Amino acid sequence: MGIVADRLLAVKPSATLAVTTKAKELKAQGVDVIDLGVGEPDFPTPKHICDAAKEALDRGETKYVPVPGTLAFRKAICDKLKRENNLDYTPEEITVNCGGKGTLFNLIMATVNPADEVVIPAPYWVSYPDMVRIAQGTPVFVTGEEETGFKIKPEDLEKAITPKTKWFILNSPSNPSGAAYTEAELKALAEVLKKHPHVWIISDEIYEHIVYDGFKSASIAAVAPELKERTVTVNGLAKSFSMTGWRVGYAAGPVEVIKAANKIQSQSTSHAVSFCQSAGITALNSPMDFLKERNDIFKQRRDMTAVKLNAIEGVSCRIPEGAFYLYPSVAGCIGKKMPDGKEIKTDTDFVTYLLESEGVAVVPGTAFGLSPYFRLSYATATELLEKACERIKRFCDSLS
Ligand SMILES: Cc1ncc(COP(=O)(O)O)c(C=O)c1O
Repeated sequence: MGIVADRLLAVKPSATLAVTTKAKELKAQGVDVIDLGVGEPDFPTPKHICDAAKEALDRGETKYVPVPGTLAFRKAICDKLKRENNLDYTPEEITVNCGGKGTLFNLIMATVNPADEVVIPAPYWVSYPDMVRIAQGTPVFVTGEEETGFKIKPEDLEKAITPKTKWFILNSPSNPSGAAYTEAELKALAEVLKKHPHVWIISDEIYEHIVYDGFKSASIAAVAPELKERTVTVNGLAKSFSMTGWRVGYAAGPVEVIKAANKIQSQSTSHAVSFCQSAGITALNSPMDFLKERNDIFKQRRDMTAVKLNAIEGVSCRIPEGAFYLYPSVAGCIGKKMPDGKEIKTDTDFVTYLLESEGVAVVPGTAFGLSPYFRLSYATATELLEKACERIKRFCDSLS
């Protein structure tokens, strides 16, 4: 009998973190690597938020706090949800956790029984299926094809739902595709979900503020209030406030499910870091002017990178509504050969050879459940993106 638990056998370590690790290893060996694998803004946390954390430390906020999060932070989250998302919640319907990832993990561990099914649109954020597998549930995928902007069709959602479906996980704007659902598209999905009262909905809205060209993110629980009693809205400070390392995420939903998630947290991490929650109050309650400037920069990078990628033979790239990722197709490179004769059979081959021969790190579409694509994060300096595009072009031009 091995030391590792059976329930881990089907679980893969995070593919995105693996790419970053490999890129770092190569860099340490002196290789000139441009890492476009990471999923975090390259901007610093705004100063007023850092100052709030320092002040909290000076006030001695260094002790244990309540498992669900401090009351003051949960109140600030309720205010935010009302103000920005048109959602009414009370503090007891809020749980604060160690990152959005910690929130999702607690929710899934607290609710998924072995053999329960969880419907996940593909391409998906790498952690959803493996969290479900850790809980011994079964992920069921619905593909959002490139032709529909990587968004799923209501009829495909309908087909995926069975009596065993526990959750439908919606992520808009999406990691990895950047696709975001309009209010009308959310309403169309809601019509399907209304017909299946046993299905609960997780709405992961962590990229809600990172949208372009006037797109407006919407919460499914607000767009379809009939679903609110079985929807859990997940969010966090990481992406909007450039606070990835602070590890603060939260969820809002019916008390029964929030209490269950808190039970998992009480027996694992206890709570999110005390002074980070205080800084979180400042983050949520302060003007978000910094975001416009940052989103303008992201948008310029998105457009510049997409134009350059679309000019490369074998690559084609859709311009997404939000987040800071592009999800280009490499269908035109599959079947081609490298100068040394090695064939590119999959997007994993493409990504591996690209890293080895040109030192550009991106994540293969297989990791996100839709091939042949790769995910590129443009949350990095514009000069590096330009250089990376030149290298990708040189790599593709070398194929025959
Ligand atoms: C779609 C999505 N949800 C949740 C998270 C979790 O973010 P964090 O745990 O840093 O708050 C991420 C991070 O990459 C993400 O892309």
